[in-house]
Formats: sequence, structure tokens, C-alpha cells
Amino acid sequence: MSDLRTDLEALRATARDRLSAADSAEAVEALRHDLLGRSGQLTGLLRQLGSVAPADRPPLGQLANEVRREVEAAVDARLADLRGSDLDARLAAETIDMSAPGRPVPIGHLHPVLTTMRDLREIFHAYGFEVFEGPEVETEEYNFELLNIPPDHPARDLWDTLYVAEPGSVESGDPRPAADGTILRTHTSPAQVRAMQALEAPIRVLTPGRCFRYEAVDASHGFEFFQVEGLVVDRDTSLADLKGLLEEVARALYGREVPTRFRPGYYPFTEPSVAFDIGCLVCGGAGCAACKRSGWMTILGAGMVHPDVLRAGGFDPDEYQGYAFGMGPDRMTMLRHAIGDIRLFFSADLRFATQFAEGR
Ligand code: DAH
Repeated sequence: MSDLRTDLEALRATARDRLSAADSAEAVEALRHDLLGRSGQLTGLLRQLGSVAPADRPPLGQLANEVRREVEAAVDARLADLRGSDLDARLAAETIDMSAPGRPVPIGHLHPVLTTMRDLREIFHAYGFEVFEGPEVETEEYNFELLNIPPDHPARDLWDTLYVAEPGSVESGDPRPAADGTILRTHTSPAQVRAMQALEAPIRVLTPGRCFRYEAVDASHGFEFFQVEGLVVDRDTSLADLKGLLEEVARALYGREVPTRFRPGYYPFTEPSVAFDIGCLVCGGAGCAACKRSGWMTILGAGMVHPDVLRAGGFDPDEYQGYAFGMGPDRMTMLRHAIGDIRLFFSADLRFATQFAEGR
């Protein structure tokens, strides 16, 4: 009898030491199995109860139950302990610094040339202009012929362009321009005829868009660039109206008095024709690569719409006149921000583009 009591007491004492030595949840579970399991130590001792004297059974049974409860409680406590310290360790490793600043989410903005085009649209809107879009892929007829530039006209050299190939001719190793004369437009001027054909007088339209030319690329020429075309057709329009309008637009766009000048120009689709220059704001007029050392930058061509072009658009030149202008928003943007090279616009360089975040 006293043997059983001693064994129970011994089990109680060693269980405590063994538990505190177990340093993982798995070790504690193994110990639980070892101490309390079906073939465990306590179960083995309980089996001996049957062979002790009947009088000794109640106190020994009580002790055995006590030991069982104690060991179970100790096992649970040790497990909770171990889990707790696991959590502490994890939390310590996973520290989140709530005071750290958030990661910035990059927000895009308009390309500076598009900002200029948006501003132009707003400025002209105040003068009653609406946007009239023309196609980027044009026909020779609209890009040239209807604008008074017949096939053999030397002025075509100014607008050498990219022809869309005749279907199949590239594959056959003999690329030829499409027979229907499909090209990438060299300017937005073909929209003049399209607008006249589509709209009634009085017409006041603005055609913004991309243009393409077979061009030797340099600081002020790109093979791909933007234009914004303007067209007014009405009964009493004059070159004086055109001049006044363009000077107002330059002031509105650059926000101050900028030096401007009109020069005689030549375009087959206007008569007379002018070029409108702005004093170079990149160099302040001293001369730089952007203005070809002249101190001036031509930002648009303009003139009174040629009678043949009015006729092509369905208007009688004896009754109607019009003026037109083609602006170069790339160059206008160079002047606005003193950007010395047009190629930067197409460089896809974020260090350049992100300097113009005002275009939100
Ligand atoms: N289309 C001309 C060019 O690309 C620019 C131009 C000149 C447009 C005179 C016009 C104009 O509307 O009247 O060089």
C-alpha cells in the first residue's frame, strides 16, 4: 500500500520537473501521453488499486485522482505558457510601426503637351470655338489635293510623309504606297475641308491631333508631333480678325506680354499666308538650339482660306471668307517651360515628365 502512495507522490513530483523541462508544445503532448495516456504511468498505478487492502483503497483512490487533476492542470498550464511565449516571439518579429508614413501611391498627370492642348481648347472656347476631330489616317485627297496641293506641286516636299502600304506588297518584298493614297496625315489642315463639308456657316472649330512626317529629327523637329488647327468661316472675316485673335491667345497662353511678330509666309491653302512667331522664351531672344539661333520661334502658320479650299468645302468664295491657322503645341510647350529639345517629349523619361504635374 505504502508503495503505491510513494509511487503516486513520486509521479506528482517528477511530472512537475519533466513538464518544466519540456520546451515545445510537442514535447508537452508527448509527456501528457506518457503520464496520463491509456498505457501511461498513472493508468498503470491505478491498476494496482485493485490489489490493495479494501480499507486503504479510498484514501489512495483520492490521492490518485488528485494527482491526475494536478498533472492535467500542469500540462494545460505548460501548454498555455509555451503558446504564449510563441505569440510573444511572433509579435516581436512582426512589429508594425504605426507611425511610419504611408507609401505614396503614384498619381499620373497629363503630358505637358496635352496640358497645352487642353489650355488652348479652353482659351479658344471663350472665343466660341468647338472641337472638330479629323482622322489621323488620311487620304492624299484631303491631306493634299483638296488643300490646293496637286500631286506634282513642289510644296509636297514640305510634307513628305508615311504612306500606308498597298495590301500584300510588304509581304511580297516590294513595298508600294496604297493605290487609294492612304497616308498618315502630315498636318491637321485636312480637317478644314472635312469641317466645312460637315458644318454650316458660321464655322469656328479647333482640330487637335497627332501628325506625322518623314522628317530629319532635331531639337525642334519630330517625325511625330501634335497640331491644333483652327478654322473660321463666315461672311465678314478678315486678316485683322486673325491677327487680333492670335495675339490674344498668345497672351492668354503665356500669361504675360510676349514678343510676337507676323511674317509673310507661304501655304498653298491660304492667300495671303503668314507665319506667327513668339520671341524665344528658352533663351530670351539671345539665340539657342531651340530657336535655331534666331531668337524667334514659329508657333503657327495661318492665313485667309484659299478660294479653292472654300469651294472644296462647299462654300462660295464670293459670299464667304475664312481664316485658318495651324498651331504647334509641342513648340508652344517648349516655350512655356523653356524646354530646349523637342525629343524629350517622346523620350518616355519619367525624370522629365514628372516635372509637369500641374496637368492634373
Ligand atoms: N498645315 C500647316 C503646316 O503643317 C500649318 C498651317 C498653315 C495651317 C496655314 C493652316 C494655315 O491652317 O492656314 O505646316
